[in-house]
Amino acid sequence: MCGIIGYIGKREALPVIMDGLKRMEYRGYDSAGVAIGNQNKIQVIKSPGKIENLRAKLAKQMISGKIGLGHVRWATHGEPSESNAHPQGDEKGQIWVVHNGIIENYLSLKKWLIQKGHHFSSETDTEVIPHLIQEFSQEGDSLMGAVQKALRLLQGAYGLAVIDKNNPQKIIVAKNSSPVIIGLGKGENLVASDPAAIITYTKKLIYLKDGEVAVLTKDTCQVFDKNNHLLEKEPQEIDWDIKQAQKGGYPHFMLKEIFEQPESLENSLKGRLIPKDGLAKLGGLDDIAERLRRIKKLLIVACGTSYFAGLVGKYMLEEEAHLPTEVVYGSEFRYHLPIINQQTAILAISQSGETADTLASLREAKRKGILSLGIINVVGSTIAREVDAGLYNHIGPEIGVASTKAFTSQLILLSLLALYFGRQREMDLTRGRQIAKAIGEIPSLTSKILKTDRQIQKIAQKYRSIQDALYLGRKYNYPIALEGALKLKEISYIHAEGYPAGEMKHGPIALIDKDFPTVAISLQDEVYPKMLSNLEEIKARGGPIITLANEGDKEIQKVADEIIYLPKTIEMLSPILAVIPLQLWAYHLGVAKGNDVDKPRNLAKSVVVE
Ligand code: M6R
Repeated sequence: MCGIIGYIGKREALPVIMDGLKRMEYRGYDSAGVAIGNQNKIQVIKSPGKIENLRAKLAKQMISGKIGLGHVRWATHGEPSESNAHPQGDEKGQIWVVHNGIIENYLSLKKWLIQKGHHFSSETDTEVIPHLIQEFSQEGDSLMGAVQKALRLLQGAYGLAVIDKNNPQKIIVAKNSSPVIIGLGKGENLVASDPAAIITYTKKLIYLKDGEVAVLTKDTCQVFDKNNHLLEKEPQEIDWDIKQAQKGGYPHFMLKEIFEQPESLENSLKGRLIPKDGLAKLGGLDDIAERLRRIKKLLIVACGTSYFAGLVGKYMLEEEAHLPTEVVYGSEFRYHLPIINQQTAILAISQSGETADTLASLREAKRKGILSLGIINVVGSTIAREVDAGLYNHIGPEIGVASTKAFTSQLILLSLLALYFGRQREMDLTRGRQIAKAIGEIPSLTSKILKTDRQIQKIAQKYRSIQDALYLGRKYNYPIALEGALKLKEISYIHAEGYPAGEMKHGPIALIDKDFPTVAISLQDEVYPKMLSNLEEIKARGGPIITLANEGDKEIQKVADEIIYLPKTIEMLSPILAVIPLQLWAYHLGVAKGNDVDKPRNLAKSVVVE
């Protein structure tokens, strides 16, 4: 996720901005840049790679000025390079913008601007913003008027800050679906996407809401609503130190990332659903749409949590799109190559895009000449570069070693893929619309689930001394039992096993006693009656039962010791909701045991060895 910062005031802007960029480094980025204004001159320096590269370039220049912008970029449109780094400007170097988010309609805006004679120098979506503002300001609008006109044309998410060579006393700031915070100082004001960037200068913050626009001078901050009415905004005092600020006030990155899921899922979906036509709009697959129509089998390759996402994907793709799908561990692929032909495509799923086993499998499949796809979070990672086409998660960096928000994002992208392939094949409009509507509702349902956090924390306290746990689920939620067990192992070091519930009676039932709890996923879906029978079997043997159930389910109270209620969705999407309480449960058990949940022992975020 990109980070923005802006400064106007009594000090030299550059050191403040560089300090802010450094404090946002933890978010992950692949290029950085600054724009510093001095009277009617703006100097812009950018560099791919680390902030140190930018610092080295800056050391060779004399830069001075009391207004400026800075940016760390996490590439989405266009590779990490100097021209794609922010600030982005118009070709005359008048307007400079730093932007966090994605402008979905940038291609049509770019076309319109090119017709009007503008020349573009980057591949970014952001570059249309300074060009639009410059276009309107040359037509006679004030800076504020030109920004507001430009904002009305933008579709998508933005947190942005603008400076203008011809108006060197102000920064204009705007927000839509991407965080923007204004920091109020004495004789200086700041703006950032992340409190961590500015809290060493001020702890008096104003949080902008969607649609609001602010004008900062060194002594004033005026905030306007979308109808251009001046608002009275009360600043909030925060008392976070820098470490707390980087975690957004949460004690751990893992918890922050679990709580980010409503937003990260929204970001993964942005611009990718057309509910009225029951369609998924997957720009990353446009060039190969015809080849995808002809494929007869999909081979998913992945490791760890991403492999479990693939297993859920298999149920989605086979049930809804009737596309035969095989899921293979990256580490097994080369020793037993699945049967493939030219009508097979391979889909690599990897958060990091660097996992050695997944990469090796992809390369082996590509050697056979088959079409390759990816679902990847890290833009420009090796797997992302090597696949023919794919989808980015767009969830920003995942810092906790245990995958949480990346997993739910992988699932929602797989559901889009099932809709996409389904509508290319036999899925009718009615079913397409049902699925698209249900997918669109998922982010807000996840917000509801997060309200169970307190309850889950209490249950975790009660069970903190357990040595083992059995996780059971069926059909779509069998892979979620596997993922729940993996999360518990990673974070709490408690031994756990995931099973399809029907397999319990073929062996694991021997383990059940009063000290061996079962975590079950018992939602009111096609397999519900069978799940209930399994729970009866456990209860009969004195095993404690902690279960997920759908809101309103009274039946389950007869067998379960602890019940965490979830809202309903369609069956294929229930894993996205079900996994969230299991993430929280693993987190709270890990914390209760005093473990370092962000960096569990013996684990690495990217496993780059085979
Ligand atoms: O980056 P990837 O998605 O390719 O990583 C795959 C696994 O290493 C990863 O999911 C691992 O299992 C995590 N620690 C799970 O929390």
